[in-house]
Amino acid sequence: MAYSQIFLASVLVVAFLGIAFADDQVDGVSVNPDTKVQGTIFCVKNEKWIPLKGARAVVICEQIAFKSTVTDENGYYLVVLPSDRVSDDCKVFQLHGKFRRPRCAFPTNINNGTTGASLVESEHANLYSVAPIVYKPRPSLT
Ligand SMILES: *[C@@H]1O[C@H](CO)[C@@H](O)[C@H](O)[C@H]1NC(C)=O
Repeated sequence: MAYSQIFLASVLVVAFLGIAFADDQVDGVSVNPDTKVQGTIFCVKNEKWIPLKGARAVVICEQIAFKSTVTDENGYYLVVLPSDRVSDDCKVFQLHGKFRRPRCAFPTNINNGTTGASLVESEHANLYSVAPIVYKPRPSLT
């Protein structure tokens, strides 16, 4: 009696986990509504690429903006947006604001950070990457 109850409980747990960790498609309907976009922001100074902490990027998809997290000490940011907003139209831009360190305040268009960088599919479902966004400490021609 007790054994069969435990067995049944285990079956239910396994069945639940099976659903939770299954592929994100069930009968063609997405059960994972979030897409993540990751990237990095750098300060290029004397040809050296230094991760820029405290900066942000923004993903714009069909005129709807999704702000990134503030970059960490590795210059890494993440944007979480609903998967149904993601399209070929989405572009990533520098986001100017109080979060950016004034010591490296001049945006460059390296990797299209000013004109808009495209999302690049990764090996993981619902995860895209973006080429690094670059700032310079002084105005420059690039
Ligand atoms: C930057 O934009 C140009 C013009 O749209 C494109 O050809 C190029 O591939 C882009 N580069 C990156 C890194 O997104």
